[in-house]
Amino acid sequence: MFSMLTFSTATLKNHLKKNGFFVFNNPCSDRWVQCLQDVTQATPVIQTNGEIIYPIKANPDAMGKSDAQSPGIGLLPHTELSYKAFPPKYLCLHCKTPDRWGGGATTLVKFDDLMRHFTLEEQHFMADQPQYFMSKDEKESCFAPIWQRDAEIIRFSYNVLVYREFSPDLNKPVASGLNPRLMALCDKFLALFEAYQVPLYLKAEQILIMDNYSCLHSRQSYRNFGLKPRPFRTAF
Ligand SMILES: [Fe+2]
Repeated sequence: MFSMLTFSTATLKNHLKKNGFFVFNNPCSDRWVQCLQDVTQATPVIQTNGEIIYPIKANPDAMGKSDAQSPGIGLLPHTELSYKAFPPKYLCLHCKTPDRWGGGATTLVKFDDLMRHFTLEEQHFMADQPQYFMSKDEKESCFAPIWQRDAEIIRFSYNVLVYREFSPDLNKPVASGLNPRLMALCDKFLALFEAYQVPLYLKAEQILIMDNYSCLHSRQSYRNFGLKPRPFRTAF
């Protein structure tokens, strides 16, 4: 864990490159977005709510669905804004109120740590076969490979690839006509993610930055939704 007051931007960037993420206390109170902009040297992305900050909080209505706000299941592994031609390179979470019982944690895995478990054939499939990625409101979409080697971008969403839905009820059948090779690949991603994931339990006011081009992440389910724990997401 870092304080931005004691580590240089270069040190933070090196750590981010090596580990795919870092966590630090918020030294700048309400100026945290400006601080992150300085670190990432990028402009915040407008998100689906039309703002640069997207609130995530426990929502009892999401019970039974694989959703970021779910108190029951949590959101399966994905990269952020995979449906954009150029997804954001960095994703930042500012934890306002942590879940008292440890729910709502972000879990992370570096893509490189998973890649060595995939065969060359599977790697070629990831790199050569465009897949359909869409936004939650289905207004935006793109066809792109999971592993876009030339731009060093990875895109993944178990739910979108397998269910063609952002927040499905996991009892529903998988998408009709789903390519069996894609299904097998996604299930392998899921099993590896569960084996290698690192859960991050952020405290109040801590900020997580992750590299959205080198990490997959998921959100564990919330347990304490009565108090509305809420992190804010910003992407660059
Ligand atoms: Fe996410």
